[in-house]
Amino acid sequence: MRAFPKGFLWGGATAANQCEGGYQEGGRGLANVDFIPSGEQRFAVASGQLDVKQLSNQEHFPGRYAIDMYHHYKEDIALFAEMGFQVYRFSISWSRIYPQGDEDKPNEAGLRFYEEVIDTCLSYGIEPLVTINHFDVPLHLIEAYGAWRNRKMVTFYLRLCETLFTRFKGKVHYWLTFNEINMILHLPYMAAGLTFKADENKTQVCYQAAHHELLASAKAVSLAHHIDPNNQIGCMLAAGNIYPYSCRPEDVMEGLQKDRENYYFTDVQARGYYPSYAKKFFEREHIQLQMEEDDEAILKAGCIDFVSFSYYNSGVASADPKLKAAAKGNVFPSIENPYLPSSEWGWQIDPLGLRITLNTLYDRYQKPLFIVENGLGAKDNFVNGYVEDDARIAYLREHIKAMKDAILLDGVDLLGYTTWGCIDLISASTGEMRKRYGFIYVDADEDGKGTLNRYKKKSFYWYQKVIKSNGEDL
Ligand code: BG6
Repeated sequence: MRAFPKGFLWGGATAANQCEGGYQEGGRGLANVDFIPSGEQRFAVASGQLDVKQLSNQEHFPGRYAIDMYHHYKEDIALFAEMGFQVYRFSISWSRIYPQGDEDKPNEAGLRFYEEVIDTCLSYGIEPLVTINHFDVPLHLIEAYGAWRNRKMVTFYLRLCETLFTRFKGKVHYWLTFNEINMILHLPYMAAGLTFKADENKTQVCYQAAHHELLASAKAVSLAHHIDPNNQIGCMLAAGNIYPYSCRPEDVMEGLQKDRENYYFTDVQARGYYPSYAKKFFEREHIQLQMEEDDEAILKAGCIDFVSFSYYNSGVASADPKLKAAAKGNVFPSIENPYLPSSEWGWQIDPLGLRITLNTLYDRYQKPLFIVENGLGAKDNFVNGYVEDDARIAYLREHIKAMKDAILLDGVDLLGYTTWGCIDLISASTGEMRKRYGFIYVDADEDGKGTLNRYKKKSFYWYQKVIKSNGEDL
């Protein structure tokens, strides 16, 4: 089998709120992600249906401790280097740098922490790929300003960006502005710190907040280029094409509409203006975006350099009201695809869907792509310090084959691949530790119990071989 192009970046990805822990160390301030409990209330809180103030003090907040990467990053990055990583994607905890979010000066201890993470990566020749914002919002910005519903957030976010771009100039070349920016419509508290009043139009609030994020993203692109022309900035979409349930034209139209709910964001970030279908959608839904005079120029000037995305599964849509009502899924409701198997958590497994998604995004934007999340969340059978995770290997192998086809057969320009949760971490949707994605097993559960020791799984050695052969030996 032919190998991947020279310079293709292989690696893995994590997010601060799911792996760092150390939530009150180094001067870090509190954030929304510290108040999202595990268990039954998690979705209600994450989706903004339940105010964190209504939670009992019996709740457990797994993000506060996670796998304690705050203290283990040297050991963890050494393991990534042993696997041969050429890139490591991680995110910045905003409240480590600006504990309240609206200060004039950053917290030096927080900056030093990330500097050490970056320097450790560079010492192994690993390129850092930094997500500026992966769901965190400092608590103070939520309480004092209403988080992203407030336009002032653009200023605070830009201050964070300027601090990062300046401090890490020459060390970091790849940046992502917002993780899964489309998640704001589904998990508005978890993804953007939004809470709602009982009588308010939530859709209006979400799209207004999204407009502020899109402005902030565009300004960040311009700023990054200004500070260092070598910076490459990407958007990040929770992707996965929506298939029509049948070839009935109504189903095809429904699939197209569902896809647009996601492309809405990247259309603005990659093309620099709101698409016409979005304007019509706003008219129909009586949504009025408050925009200022130079907003259109800001969006136009701040088009991203590459399109990054997460891919776990495809989806299915139908115009049939009965099937529509049967759609399920913890974040993105979808009709079950009868042709595909599912993971233990009901996420459907569709490697060819990755090739389809890559082609769709490349056709749509004609910009380089980067797969920054993909993987199988599964229970591990940990025996004598080892995990034989053949199902994970099989999942990744098939997805890598699909992306290879997209590059070699379809001509898609793909910069790299970072698997999700390269080391086990807390699940975003469920808060569980037993939903594991890693090549490295961490002895921890979501209640904070465990030695926190790290163990190499079978997939660790498999991925090492994949990277060494540049994707030839799968
Ligand atoms: C993406 C997020 O939605 O999917 C990650 O960017 C998340 O934060 C990942 O962890 C996998 O989802 P989950 O719910 O299995 O952790």
